[in-house]
Amino acid sequence: MSRLKDYMVPFITRQQIKKIVMSLAKQIESDYEGQEIVLICPLKGSVLFLADLMRFLTIPLQVDFVHLVSKGSIQILKDITTNIEGKHVLIVEEIIDSGRKLTFLKKRLQASNPKSVKVITFIDKPARREIAVNPDYVGTVVEDRFLIGYGLDSEEVGRNYPDIYILNN
Ligand code: IMP
Ligand code: MG
Repeated sequence: MSRLKDYMVPFITRQQIKKIVMSLAKQIESDYEGQEIVLICPLKGSVLFLADLMRFLTIPLQVDFVHLVSKGSIQILKDITTNIEGKHVLIVEEIIDSGRKLTFLKKRLQASNPKSVKVITFIDKPARREIAVNPDYVGTVVEDRFLIGYGLDSEEVGRNYPDIYILNN
């Protein structure tokens, strides 16, 4: 019997991940200097990236979580409870694929009249885009590959892996 491990090819190491996160944090620190931000983390895949990113940020921030599921249409399993009116909002994604979830979330947040809504993603997969949506900060761009690790899962397997792998099938 074959196991998932037999199909995993190392792609981004934890050391590389740390460097990318630190460089993203630097950009955010300088762009939002003197401002407060609200980080919005869509569950569940983004939790590792969020935790790493917020550790490197020294600007005042709040954090909240939203859980969306797409079963045909996109539904909200858990909404944010933070009042974002007049605030700078930064959506923290681990990966942008079709862009459907992000487009839905952006619209939804914009309806609460924040001062701004920007998007940071650790990984961007523009080749898979179905809806035009551009992240403001991108850790790294990948081709059309299925990845696991660092929050990314294959049916819940791999989320906790500290490194990122390509999953070949
Ligand atoms: P989309 O941009 O609306 O298609 O949604 C992106 C979501 O699809 C992410 O939050 C992941 O849950 C999932 N996803 C997309 N690409 C990958 C991948 O390479 N590995 C694991 N999950 C992925
Ligand atoms: Mg998933």
